[in-house]
Amino acid sequence: MNHEDPGPRHVPVLLRRADEILGPALTSGGVLVDATLGLGGHAEHFLRTYPDTRLVGLDRDTEALKLAGARLAPFADRITLVHTRYDGIADALREAELSPTNSVRAILMDLGVSSMQLDEAERGFAYSVDAPLDMRMDPTSGLTAADVLNTYAHGDLARILKNYGEERFAGRIASAIVKRRERRPFTTSGELVELLYDTIPAATRRTGGHPAKRTFQALRIEVNRELESLEAALPAALDALEVGGRIVVMSYQSLEDKLVKQLLAQRSASRTPVGLPVELPGMGPEFKILTRGAEKATEEEIAENPRAAPVRMRAAERIEAGE
Ligand SMILES: C[S@@+](CC[C@H](N)C(=O)[O-])C[C@H]1O[C@@H](n2cnc3c(N)ncnc32)[C@H](O)[C@@H]1O
Repeated sequence: MNHEDPGPRHVPVLLRRADEILGPALTSGGVLVDATLGLGGHAEHFLRTYPDTRLVGLDRDTEALKLAGARLAPFADRITLVHTRYDGIADALREAELSPTNSVRAILMDLGVSSMQLDEAERGFAYSVDAPLDMRMDPTSGLTAADVLNTYAHGDLARILKNYGEERFAGRIASAIVKRRERRPFTTSGELVELLYDTIPAATRRTGGHPAKRTFQALRIEVNRELESLEAALPAALDALEVGGRIVVMSYQSLEDKLVKQLLAQRSASRTPVGLPVELPGMGPEFKILTRGAEKATEEEIAENPRAAPVRMRAAERIEAGE
């Protein structure tokens, strides 16, 4: 791919619904934080539709920031792009000369990998092509997937495969990885895929999808510390919102959606001790949930954009926490 060219324009997931929810918070201007800028598809829509909106765009992927920067160049006077993990949102807001609390009208988090990351074979996210086992969303730091496979103890490999990949054969796969790397360290995705084909019983393949799917997901989550980053980012994101400000989070796997669901439930519940007849001052709910359960993409959207199939969207609005 020509790296100066944003490439084919993928359709941003749940764009219309994200606009229905975040739009009302942006009609009179204010700051939008796109915490997962990616190729800037959602961001471009909001900048175009809400001309008084200022964007603070975050991404841990330097390549994504470069491409989004080129795409959003027509709005250069209204954007600040920051290379950070989203749990660095408070520092990013300071960098944009904003307060880390009560300063933002809208936040979008469209989690996971971008189409560009999946499409660039050499980054090693896809199990369908043989490529170096990298999988870092931020190619400038941290362990690669090969490092994880070649250095983690058996127990740690089994734990991440089970917890992050919900892989039934986690122990068996971890044993095979340890045995295989004693002969020769892993370097490419093809070697891992071959091992998975040999290790996962053929009979389970009919129901369990591609044998590499769960292991690749688990490695990606581990390499990028995805859950730790999200767990730290969500409270900071909620704190950044002003009263009336709104947040939309789109998750693509159940562990992320669970974190989002739990935190929104907690922050939209009263903090007055159970049993008291009246709400204690300032102890009422801080958020109102705007989505019923987790919203999914429609069949039409999935047909047009298969990457929308697993999405689960939740949204909330900051409210006055009661007098
Ligand atoms: C699904 S894409 C976003 C696509 C974007 N909404 C668009 O319309 O083009 C997710 C992006 O979030 C970034 N990302 C994932 N985890 C991150 C984290 N912990 N901190 C910052 N960025 C992250 C990825 O690098 C990727 O570019």
